[in-house]
Amino acid sequence: MEAIDVITAKRDGGELTGEQIRWVVDAYTRGAVAEEQMAALNMAVVWRGMTRAETSAWTQAMLDSGERLDFGGLDRPTTDKHSTGGVGDKITLPLTPTVAACGAAVPQLSGRGLGHTGGTLDKLESVPGWRADLSPEAMRVQLAEVGCAVCAAGPGLAPADRKLYALRDVTGTVESVPLIAASIMSKKLAEGTASLVLDVKVGSGAFMKDAASARELAETMVAIGTDHGVRTTALLTGMDTPLGRRVGNALEVAEAVEVLSGGGPSDVVELTVELAREMLRAAGLDGARDPAEALRDGSAMDAWRRMIAAQGGDPDAPLPEAAERRDILAPATGTLTRLDAYAVGVAARRLGAGRARKEDPVSAGAGVELHAKPGEEIRAGRPLFTLHTDDPARFDSAAEALSDSFAVDGPARGLPLVLDRIG
Ligand code: URA
Repeated sequence: MEAIDVITAKRDGGELTGEQIRWVVDAYTRGAVAEEQMAALNMAVVWRGMTRAETSAWTQAMLDSGERLDFGGLDRPTTDKHSTGGVGDKITLPLTPTVAACGAAVPQLSGRGLGHTGGTLDKLESVPGWRADLSPEAMRVQLAEVGCAVCAAGPGLAPADRKLYALRDVTGTVESVPLIAASIMSKKLAEGTASLVLDVKVGSGAFMKDAASARELAETMVAIGTDHGVRTTALLTGMDTPLGRRVGNALEVAEAVEVLSGGGPSDVVELTVELAREMLRAAGLDGARDPAEALRDGSAMDAWRRMIAAQGGDPDAPLPEAAERRDILAPATGTLTRLDAYAVGVAARRLGAGRARKEDPVSAGAGVELHAKPGEEIRAGRPLFTLHTDDPARFDSAAEALSDSFAVDGPARGLPLVLDRIG
């Protein structure tokens, strides 16, 4: 087979065969198809799209490029969640132990943050001693003993996606629903979960800014999961305003611990419980314990403490705090009607909580505390935000990102927490 034939077939609007897709993904991963040829094929896919059969075959080819974990021998069903990413989205932290406390095993491979969105591993690494690297065998032992593990995907999982994503990133070819869906699903299928719930975010702080494109992505990923024998459903959830009241690594861990203690912000609690119920349903455990009860009675907290300790962390150690704080005061009295997720995410990144480039370090203590959420009253001269950073030279650019991020009074146009369920 020749790469040029595959490229021109897609360029001209044809449907690629499974054999063509298997060949081109495999040959590219081995270095037998050139970077510029794969870039051209990706661009043809951006313009021409892919059918369900092509997208499933593309996912399978990326899956086949590496190992696939298998947790089939556990005494309980496996289930996982994937979020497409947002601002203040710390849901994995309380959700994973909550679902474990209700009887499922959660093998969660997570990533690091890039741009304005945070990453679960960066957040957990703010817990003193906690390590993201677990071998597949260590993961299996932890799932059997604790019921949940959150760790980094090893280099052996979907290596084709790793190489392809780096190419898409520099060739303007990330923005394609089938390529995004295949990329996410190849990694999730490789982790060996039997069921999967997708939290597809919609709004300014999300990858997908409008509900129609988020729905298309959700439907495509649900179809891929289903085609691969993994029971998959999706929730479309609002990301026009940050989740919770803290954005930043250790700040979000502290908020997650509040939720696991039976308190915490209502939106974080509600989405945690909603996604936990969805995961338990997907795992065939709908008659199991109620996740809200697991948060109230301390069993979710118990699973959290055991999960942190199993990965070398000290659940009792104080979390790191940033060296410097600055309040931003509310300019007026009234009802906060808008608080833009993207702007808050940019401010948190500028304070040091996130990365502009993959190789940048992150600060554990940096971030933004929100003193009000949309719908709440604010008073002129009282703190609206508190900025946390290790480097005071960062305050001004973070404050600038927030200057137009909110509105007082006027029409409120927020998205609901859960817009729809798919699958
Ligand atoms: N996240 C992924 O893992 N892959 C994409 O293509 C986009 C977002």
